[in-house]
Amino acid sequence: MKVEIVSLFPDYFESVFKQSILRRAQETGLLDVSVYDLRRYTTDKHHQADDYRFGGGPGMLMLAEPLFTVLSELTEKSRERPLIIYPTPRGKPFQQRNAIELAREPHLIFICGHYKGIDERVIERWVDVQYSIGDYILTGGEPATAAIVDAVVRMIPGALGDFDSAKGDSFFQRVLDAPHYTRPEVLDGRAVPRVLTSGHHKNIERWRLAMSKFITQRKRPELLNT
Ligand code: 6GU
Repeated sequence: MKVEIVSLFPDYFESVFKQSILRRAQETGLLDVSVYDLRRYTTDKHHQADDYRFGGGPGMLMLAEPLFTVLSELTEKSRERPLIIYPTPRGKPFQQRNAIELAREPHLIFICGHYKGIDERVIERWVDVQYSIGDYILTGGEPATAAIVDAVVRMIPGALGDFDSAKGDSFFQRVLDAPHYTRPEVLDGRAVPRVLTSGHHKNIERWRLAMSKFITQRKRPELLNT
C-alpha cells in the first residue's frame, strides 16, 4: 500500500512511522509512506498556506491553491486512482470496519487540515471520504491521520505477526476485549482469575466471552444493540 500525507507539519510524522508494526510494514515492503510539506507548494515569497475566511470571523483557513497543486501532482503520477481522505471532526466516525475496508486500497492520500480547516472547494474537487476519530477537537489533522494509518496498516494481510490476535481485539467483533494477565500469578496480593490457570480451554473461552459481554454492557452498551 502506498500512503501519501500532505501536511504543514511534516516533522510530526518523523517518529510515527519508525516504530513497531508501521516500521516493519515498510521494511517488508507492505507499506510505502511519503510525507509532503504543503508549504513547498505555495507560490508567493512568504510561502503563505492559509488566509482569513471570506465572510469574516476569527481563525485562518488553509488556501485551496497549494492543495490543488500537490493533489494534481500526486494523482497524475499515480497509476491507480488514489483514495483521498480528509480527516476532520465533520467526517463520519472512523470505525474498525472502515480500517478493514481501507486496508484493501492500493493507494491512500491524506490531507492534514489545520486552523479552521481547508477551503470547501478542495473537498468538492478532490476528497473522496471524510473521517472523524472522535467527538473532540484536535489542533490539526496529523494525529488523526496517524491514528487512521495505524489502524489501517495493521489490517493489511501480513502486517501483524499473528493475525488471530487481532480477531480478539476490542471492536473486531463489535465487543470490548476481556481482561488479560501474564506472570507473576500473584502480584500485590492480587491473584490471576483461577479459570485462566486451570488449563481448561473451553472454560477459559467461556469466561473470556462472558467478561467481554459484561464489560461491553457496562462501558459501551450501545455497541451491543447497533
Ligand atoms: Cl479528523 N481532526 C481534528 N482536527 N480534530 C478531530 C478529528 C480530526 N477527529 C476528531 N477530532
